[in-house]
Amino acid sequence: MLVYEIIRKKLDGERNTPEEIRHLVTGFVCGEVSPEQMAAWLAAVYIRGLSDEETWWLTEAMAKSGRIMDLSTIDGIKVDKHSTGGVGDKVSIVVVPLVASADVPVAKLTGRALGHTGGTADKLESIPGMRLNLSEEEFISQVKRIGCAIAVATEDIAPADKKIYALRDKTATIASVPLIVSSILSKKLAGGADAFVFDVKFGDGAFMRRLEDARTLAEGLVRTAKLAGKKAVAVLSSMEQPLGHAIGNAVEVAEAIEVLKGSGPEDVRELCITISALMLWLGGVVTNPDEGRSKAMELLSSGTALEKFRQLVAAQGGDPKIVDEPFRLPQPLHKVEVVADSTGTIVRIATRQLGLIAGQLGAGRMGLKEVNPTAGIVVLKKVGDHVNPGEVLAILQSSEPIDGEIVAKVKASFVFGESGEKPPILAGFIQ
Ligand code: URA
Repeated sequence: MLVYEIIRKKLDGERNTPEEIRHLVTGFVCGEVSPEQMAAWLAAVYIRGLSDEETWWLTEAMAKSGRIMDLSTIDGIKVDKHSTGGVGDKVSIVVVPLVASADVPVAKLTGRALGHTGGTADKLESIPGMRLNLSEEEFISQVKRIGCAIAVATEDIAPADKKIYALRDKTATIASVPLIVSSILSKKLAGGADAFVFDVKFGDGAFMRRLEDARTLAEGLVRTAKLAGKKAVAVLSSMEQPLGHAIGNAVEVAEAIEVLKGSGPEDVRELCITISALMLWLGGVVTNPDEGRSKAMELLSSGTALEKFRQLVAAQGGDPKIVDEPFRLPQPLHKVEVVADSTGTIVRIATRQLGLIAGQLGAGRMGLKEVNPTAGIVVLKKVGDHVNPGEVLAILQSSEPIDGEIVAKVKASFVFGESGEKPPILAGFIQ
């Protein structure tokens, strides 16, 4: 098969066949297709797009480039969730045990902090002793035993995606919906679940800034997952401000525990209940999402979800005492308050900027520094809150002294106006 011809067809706006797409992906992974050829095809896709079928063939080829987890020995419908990434997104820490506590098995592969967004693996590793590097055997046997497990995705999960993503990053072809769909979904399919809930975020702190782009991505994810024979739904959730108050690792775990205890910030609670409701519905334990909502709220208020979280932490070597005694989580050496010096209502929060600053403080992978479990930001004032001079907007935390330049940048991230409405967390559903 001539790679030249595969590229030429896409450049001319023709369809590629499944064999051509497979040839390209497997050839690129083993080095028979050169980066120049792959880059030309990616650029052609960026301009010409892919049909739904082509997107699925690409996704399948990428998923099959590595190991595909076989969850068939676990009873029940295995449901997974995926977030396109945000600032303060601790939803997985709540929904995995919550959904598992209703006997819907959740085998979750997760990632680490990237750019301005945090990673669930880094967050959970802030719990003393907690291990996210589980072998496939440990992972599956834990799901059979307690109903859930969260492990970091290994290098052999969709290796084609890693190679292709790196090339897209160098050739300005990241922002193509079919390429994003195949990248996300290939990793999800390799995780082996039967059904997916996608949390597609929009706004300043999201990968997709505009709601209409997030909707297009969500529709693409749901359509392609269905072509793969999976059940799938998506929610569109706002990242116009950080989710909840906490941005970082240990601070986010502490906030997730509050939600599991039945309280916590309203936006986090609402998003967790909505996603759990959909997972419970896809998992077949309720007949509709409304029933799923009631069930999710009951699992939170009864302490059933919290008990499952204790089991999850203990099963992965973590100290479950952190649930009742959060001071056992690592504490920062340095804390600095960011204080308002004017009056007004917060109309906007530069969310992406706060995510980057949290990373710079040590919560993410900036430069060569290791992720620090204690670093982060606690955002005390949100959009729509009225603020007087002297009130604390946010608290910065780090294991190292925090310089004044960072404090000034955080202060500037809060934009004041005359009046501001609290933005809703949810903007739609796609089925
Ligand atoms: N996230 C992914 O995993 N892949 C993309 O292409 C974009 C965002």
